[in-house]
Amino acid sequence: MTDQTITTKGPTIDTATCDGCAICIEVCPTHIFIPNGKDEIAIHPERTAFCMACGHCMAYCPSGSISVVGLSADHIFDLTRSPVDFEALSDLLASRRSVRVYKDKPVPRELLEQIVSTITLAPMGFTPHKLEITVVDDRAIIEQALPLLVDFYEKLGKWLANPFMRRMIKRRISQSKFEALDTHVIPSMTYRLPMMKATGIDTITRGAPAMILFHGRYDAAYHYEDSFIALTYGLIAAHALGLGASGISLIPPIVEKSPELRELFHIPPDHEVCSCMVLGYPKLKVKRGIHRDLAGVNWL
Ligand SMILES: Cc1cc2nc3c(=O)[nH]c(=O)nc-3n(C[C@H](O)[C@H](O)[C@H](O)COP(=O)(O)O)c2cc1C
Repeated sequence: MTDQTITTKGPTIDTATCDGCAICIEVCPTHIFIPNGKDEIAIHPERTAFCMACGHCMAYCPSGSISVVGLSADHIFDLTRSPVDFEALSDLLASRRSVRVYKDKPVPRELLEQIVSTITLAPMGFTPHKLEITVVDDRAIIEQALPLLVDFYEKLGKWLANPFMRRMIKRRISQSKFEALDTHVIPSMTYRLPMMKATGIDTITRGAPAMILFHGRYDAAYHYEDSFIALTYGLIAAHALGLGASGISLIPPIVEKSPELRELFHIPPDHEVCSCMVLGYPKLKVKRGIHRDLAGVNWL
């Protein structure tokens, strides 16, 4: 028998199998489950509207008695293997590098699908995911983008040298982004772009055979923050699969502003392009790990 509460949103409890353990009460972030005073669990009818479909009630319920509108058997799966121990995880993370030299070898679709599947395990600021990804596994498409990226960076260099345009740009982007642009990106482009044109060395996408763009609706909650966590999962998954990958911050703001690049990558007009990674088979084997200094470690 199923709980009588009829919902278009939120959880339902199969009271025939629920043993009243109350774990759902503890794990639900919006307190939708409540005790009914008879050692059973009830669903607070007014709170179902606040169900975020995070699936925690389903993931923790020992008897599998809960279902949630919007979460199907495709979403919830049994955890069959033990998670890796800390040393194994640490070794994996220590051996990851941002790869900038790739073999001329395409990434098989199955591996890209495994990376996409890992990205769907990432936490998000507010369920459900508002993030979309665009997987480009055709280097020819990336190569079509390169001249447009070069052209845009050349224009950007000229605009920053013009006091009026410089003020406009400064007003439109965050101070930290402007700093990065002004002190690193554009000055380094003064030799990188001519080198790219003269030698064909791809200083932007590093010759990678595949790319993933992370984008989401401008008005969607936390899509920007989510994109970097998703990117991180993608980078780690790629490394664990024997691939190499790197975040590429040079691409999203340009795709964002360029109608041609938006069209090339099929980015919907109401989407912000937030982050990007390139990936492929690494040409070189890394020999050493690197610890990064944090700007500070403060203990209270
Ligand atoms: C969000 C993000 C954007 C990045 N953008 C670029 C980029 O545009 N070009 C590049 O060569 N590396 C890029 N990187 C790689 C970083 O430069 C790299 O993480 C840093 O040098 C540290 O190296 P490691 O990842 O091997 O530890 C990016 C990394 C992140 C996380």
